[in-house]
Amino acid sequence: MDHFQLKNGILHAEDIPLTQIANEVGTPVYVYSRATLERHARVFREGLKDAGDIHLAFAVKANPNLAVLRILANQGYGADVVSGGEMQRALAAGMKAEDIVFSGVGKSREELALGLDKGIGQFNLESEEEGEMLSEIAAARGVKASATLRVNPDVDAGTHAKISTGKKENKFGVAIDVAPDIYARLSQLPGLDLRGAAVHIGSQLQRLEPLEKCYARMGELIAELRNAGHVVTHVDLGGGLGVPYKPEDNPPSPAEYGAMVARVTRGWDVTLMFEPGRVIAGNSGVMITKVIRIKPGVNSDFVIIDAAMNDLMRPAIYDAWHHFEAVEPSGETMVASIVGPICESSDIFAKERVVDRVETDDLGIFRTAGAYGATMANTYNSRPLVPEVLVDGDRYAVVAERIDPATIMAAEHVPDWLK
Ligand code: LLP
Repeated sequence: MDHFQLKNGILHAEDIPLTQIANEVGTPVYVYSRATLERHARVFREGLKDAGDIHLAFAVKANPNLAVLRILANQGYGADVVSGGEMQRALAAGMKAEDIVFSGVGKSREELALGLDKGIGQFNLESEEEGEMLSEIAAARGVKASATLRVNPDVDAGTHAKISTGKKENKFGVAIDVAPDIYARLSQLPGLDLRGAAVHIGSQLQRLEPLEKCYARMGELIAELRNAGHVVTHVDLGGGLGVPYKPEDNPPSPAEYGAMVARVTRGWDVTLMFEPGRVIAGNSGVMITKVIRIKPGVNSDFVIIDAAMNDLMRPAIYDAWHHFEAVEPSGETMVASIVGPICESSDIFAKERVVDRVETDDLGIFRTAGAYGATMANTYNSRPLVPEVLVDGDRYAVVAERIDPATIMAAEHVPDWLK
């Protein structure tokens, strides 16, 4: 359920017509719904009601906008961060340092030190080498860093190869069969308080089976670690739950996911940690775009829009499907390829697809753009950086401004010796 619905023939975000935002802010523009974000945050938490003691850390990479993070902080969410920048954002948005989990395969010495100085709650270590570096930095400060060891369970998540992370050839975590040995060595280090394990096998998961297989392996690992005399109090089960992009998609619901988690983790006696991103933010956002013109093509017309692959990268890099709809649909449809103005053939959002009929200057939206949308946007072809709007009932605010080429050029310099 989301709050992007037709009212009197016009698509609205909650009580605001998208035509109003397009007129006042311009296009392309991302629009988020506060009520939808809050609903998804609540539904995910409720799904885990039988899972015992839980900690929820929103995966900031999915949508790092400060206003979005503030909403989730108010819902009691912490953050899963993967860079010093994300850490600063989570803190700036009001998330408590102790509720922040620091993930990522390449945390630098500076980022580890920053995390320690800020009092970050948990570091998910991805290698023995990282653990040694963190211990050294922590010991020099006379503190112990709370940490888990991320393991690679060698499970195929059954999702797009570019967003799979849990197969043995992937760069993430340490192989589960060598994890007990590495854990034993890391637990001896003076600057670490090793308290459990972490796992994340991929994103946009459409089935529960790979997750269940992975969690069952984690259960075996916990037993093995405890047999070896380690105290295990925290297990981070990552994110990855998929969302519907097409009307016919039917990913597992948070309730089904939570029931599986409760069943598989019964008796673990730990705090279970979760890092949901897409399932919270994905369907909480849309991107509005305007049709520049229609151009005849060989197989179908091209609808050339003012949004491009730089604004929403997912179709170009993962062949992802984002549902297109007219903001003021006439009821008629057309077969068209929807493309942006960028000079690359990968700048295509929909290929010969049946879509709402649109004409020059009409507005349309791409749905499910609240996760991995604006955050992955860039300024390729020297296009402005796309802005973001948050709607709350009958009011809205620009929560990220459009950054124009002049502002970006102001940070570039032609050296004197070229003048
Ligand atoms: N935890 C870890 C360690 C992760 O690597 C990720 C996502 C998450 C949590 C959150 O996963 P989610 O619940 O959102 O599936 N740009 C890609 C997605 C990349 C996901 C990377 N890691 C896309 O647009 O599909």
